[in-house]
Amino acid sequence: MSSIFVFDAYGTLLDVHAAIARCRTEAGPEADRLSEIWRTKQLEYSWTLTLAGHYVDFWTLTQRALDYALARVPTVDKALKARLLDAYFTLDAFPDALPTLRALKAKGHKTGILSNGSPPMLKAAVEAAGLAADLDAVLSVDGLKMFKPRPEVYALATGHFKCAASDVTFVSSNRWDVMGATAFGFSAYWINRAKMPDEYPDFAPQQILHDLNGLAAVV
Ligand code: LAC
Repeated sequence: MSSIFVFDAYGTLLDVHAAIARCRTEAGPEADRLSEIWRTKQLEYSWTLTLAGHYVDFWTLTQRALDYALARVPTVDKALKARLLDAYFTLDAFPDALPTLRALKAKGHKTGILSNGSPPMLKAAVEAAGLAADLDAVLSVDGLKMFKPRPEVYALATGHFKCAASDVTFVSSNRWDVMGATAFGFSAYWINRAKMPDEYPDFAPQQILHDLNGLAAVV
């Protein structure tokens, strides 16, 4: 039976640490620390603004989070900022992303992205990674002006595909995003790429995989 697979973008299909990887030599020994702070602050800003009832688009938050990370890690040359942002705009996809989307499409399933990313950054990244032909939809929170894990965001997918929440399998490497998707009524796969401990026990994923490679085989 065919079904609908909706993917998170950043961290799940697109490697958020690929930007620093492109400048690793110049960034020096604290490159990974900078990248972790960058990602953590980007997400924190999305959550705190949404809780406060405000919205600033994800690209602006990505830039502000990088400014913060560069201020926290002064060993990384601030002159790298423009290169890091350019790299983030066209992030590399994980090697398992395209084969997984292709395999799902070959089995007759529908595929989509549901992301915090702003439409221009999603378009650029999806095209640069060559994923566009294997995606039925690229859905951004931007029209709603609120971020995950608000239930209204997950409702963008059911609205687009004109289906019930139970028809959607949501796929994310972010455990908090799996929580939000499960709370909404999706069945969710947690792609635990970073081998993190489990959390959110009240909102368990249907299945945990270490990467996307196994996904198309089990559905
Ligand atoms: C996204 C972020 C949360 O793509 O990873 O929505």
